[in-house]
Amino acid sequence: MAEEAVPLPLNLAEYEAAARAMLPRMAFDYIASGAHDEVTVRANRAAFAQWRLLPRMLAGVAAVDTTTTVLGQPVALPVLLAPTAFHRQAHPEGELATARGAKAAGTIFTLSTVATSAIEEVAPQAGPWWFQLYVYQDRAITRDLVQRAEAAGAAALVVTVDVPKLGRREADERNHFTLPPGVVAANFAQAGQQTLSDTSAGSGLTAYIGAQFDPALSWDDLAWLAGITKLPIIPKGILAPDDARLAFQNGARAIVVSNHGGRQLDSAVATLDALPAVVEAAQGQGEIYLDGGIRRGTDVLMALALGARAVLIGRPYVWGLAVGGAAGVQRVLSLLHEEIALDMLLCGCANVGAIDRALVVPVGPLRAGPTP
Ligand code: GLV
Repeated sequence: MAEEAVPLPLNLAEYEAAARAMLPRMAFDYIASGAHDEVTVRANRAAFAQWRLLPRMLAGVAAVDTTTTVLGQPVALPVLLAPTAFHRQAHPEGELATARGAKAAGTIFTLSTVATSAIEEVAPQAGPWWFQLYVYQDRAITRDLVQRAEAAGAAALVVTVDVPKLGRREADERNHFTLPPGVVAANFAQAGQQTLSDTSAGSGLTAYIGAQFDPALSWDDLAWLAGITKLPIIPKGILAPDDARLAFQNGARAIVVSNHGGRQLDSAVATLDALPAVVEAAQGQGEIYLDGGIRRGTDVLMALALGARAVLIGRPYVWGLAVGGAAGVQRVLSLLHEEIALDMLLCGCANVGAIDRALVVPVGPLRAGPTP
């Protein structure tokens, strides 16, 4: 008798459960965990529960258009892939598979500095892609990464600004987190940058970042980066309205409102809670994206209604990668895409431009009169 087919996960939460069942503990914990008590991990999700949608009826919408553009690049849906590290611990094809899945889904893949496939291997497999940059203390290393990404066809540089030091993820400390045999940070040739060899005190990534990354990054470094590349710079990890202002003053073309998926400062503000004030402070000077806690199409609609141009997902596509390689990544994105299309139709929004502030209301009784 034919083996019974395992039912495919129906939503992003089911992908997480499926990935948990198949990944080694050390890898699952690394991907899933947040800093300290994971207050911010939960807050990112909980923030969406503070809002409700106010759908409009009889809008005459027969079909919806989920496409948009980010920095002029057309994408099939307003969801991009956030940078996440070390994909080969989730699947043997690592970032090559992720890049193919994103391309098939019609959206942008952001390749991490600490990827387990090299820039030059990933680029030919990818559709439009961005490169995420960590700034190494050794500026020659940093410059080399930027130049390689630019030469390989990256369309933007996503500069992570919230990791002067790694947040303390206790699961990784307990597990003495390291990479599986044969898996390395493939953008580097030197052992010092390639491997997480020092796990004596706990997480190997904490030791690596402590030794390699520049903890004293400042706005001057952003200006330095802008001087060595033609790529648009997108700081990722902005939460304070004043930092949004400073980012655009210092040449950012877009920003990502992010708390690193709750993996850095625990008790940092939830990204959806930070978004409206950041949007106001930015005064339309550049595009604003958001990541953190996006699991449903309705989450995407809420973030767009509160002023994000697009959102990024991290953990959910890594679960897809673990479960099904490139096809798993593509399916996670297509589940979200279908949810967005259905939710837009149910809200009476024909296109993403129609998703505006009037679509969301705070939890509680509606007040009469036009929505603010
Ligand atoms: C790396 O950026 C991590 O969050 O683990």
